[in-house]
Parts: sequence; C-alpha cells; structure tokens
Amino acid sequence: MSLYEMRKSYTLSTLLEKDIDPNPMVQFKTWLSEALQGDLPDWVEVNAMTLSTSDGKGEVSSRIVLLKGLEQDRFWFYTNYDSDKAAQMESNSHVALCFLWQHIQRQVRVTGTVSKAPRDQSEAYFRKRPRDSQLGAIVSSQSSVVESREVLERRLAELKQQHGDSNPIPCPDNWGGYCVDPITIEFWQGRDSRLHDRLRYRKDASNWRVERLAP
Ligand SMILES: Cc1cc2nc3c(=O)[nH]c(=O)nc-3n(C[C@H](O)[C@H](O)[C@H](O)COP(=O)(O)O)c2cc1C
Repeated sequence: MSLYEMRKSYTLSTLLEKDIDPNPMVQFKTWLSEALQGDLPDWVEVNAMTLSTSDGKGEVSSRIVLLKGLEQDRFWFYTNYDSDKAAQMESNSHVALCFLWQHIQRQVRVTGTVSKAPRDQSEAYFRKRPRDSQLGAIVSSQSSVVESREVLERRLAELKQQHGDSNPIPCPDNWGGYCVDPITIEFWQGRDSRLHDRLRYRKDASNWRVERLAP
C-alpha cells in the first residue's frame, strides 16, 4: 500500500452557476436524490454526515450521525442529550456538517447553529424506531466509559425482559433530536485536473448569495 500513489480523477459531472437552484435547500434535495440513484451497494448510507462540534475552550470533535429530516429548511438528526456532542453543542451552538458522496464525486459542507427538536417530535420519531434501537438508546449512556461489553449486553437483556415483546417503550428524557439552521452551504463537485467546482451559498438577511470558491 502506498498512500502517496493513491489518487483518482473526477470527471463524472460539473457544477455551474447556470445549473443551480437559487435556494440551497432545493439544491441539496436535488443532490441527495441524485446520490440515491442507481444500483447502490447496501452499505452506502447517503444520509450519513459528519457532525463537528466544539466547546468554549476551542476543543473540536467530529463524528458521523444520520440525517433524518429536512423539514423547515433545517438538517435534523437524533442522539443522546447527555453525550459528549450534546455537551459541546450546549456550550457552543455553532456546528458544521459534511456529507461525502464518493460515488458521484460530491461533497456538501454546511455551517450553522443547532437547537433541540420539540419534545413531541423526538417522541414521535422514537416511536417509529425499531424496538431494538429503542432499547439500545435506553441501555447506552452514550459517551460514558463502560466497564465491559458484557455489562451493556446484560442491561439490554434485563430491559428486554422488563418490557416484554410488545409493551411500548417510552422515549428516554435524555434522547431526542436536534436541527441545524444553515448559515452557509457549500456544494463541491470533483473535476478534472483538481479544478473542482465549489459553489457556496451564504445567508444574507433572508436571501441566499452564491459565491464560487477556488478549489
Ligand atoms: C454510519 C453511522 C451512523 C451513526 N448515526 C448516529 C446517529 O444518528 N446518532 C448518534 O447519536 N450516533 C450515531 N453514530 C455514532 C456516532 O458516530 C458517535 O459514535 C456517537 O454519537 C457518540 O459521539 P459523541 O461521544 O461524540 O457524542 C453513527 C455512527 C456511524 C458510523
């Protein structure tokens, strides 16, 4: 394996000012649906996005979460409200998202401010999750140190017994949604000779301004 020899040419598509929608959320939905087209392998999760958060001291951390909605022109995801990411978002509401759609040689970067979803929305989404995911959310004190995997499996087995096969599982208080209200959204299309297309929308009062960035 030699990392310095690994490179690909990007020639699948272009991103030109004349082809984009003036509203970046419309443009995002177009790209998302294009990312879903074709005979994709099972493992591709086009709704996976990197969420970067930071705290008041300037420490930054990133992880993948799944995009679960685009209502009200925001990016919605669900997680544990006691997790490390939740603590960072509490101290600094500015976050960044990044989508990588390698199969169409595209990247989308979002910056914006995050806020918690209304409780009834989180509970409604929790009810739609598979039972095992509901139980997993209760068992896992996300981001905390655990003694061993066995401890988690034991807790899960106990919980399964408590709730039986059909009793509804209530949404834990420390689990729910967040939405990111975008300030900038950049669309990146890989091009030949590393002259990639980058178009960045920036919210200017209530209008969106588009600028081309050097690759
Ligand atoms: C493909 C993929 C999807 C994931 N989706 C979520 C998600 O939607 N919500 C979530 O809380 N964690 C999700 N995770 C786990 C997170 O990446 C992370 O491990 C977890 O949220 C704890 O992060 P934190 O300790 O920084 O808070 C996902 C991980 C992967 C690889």
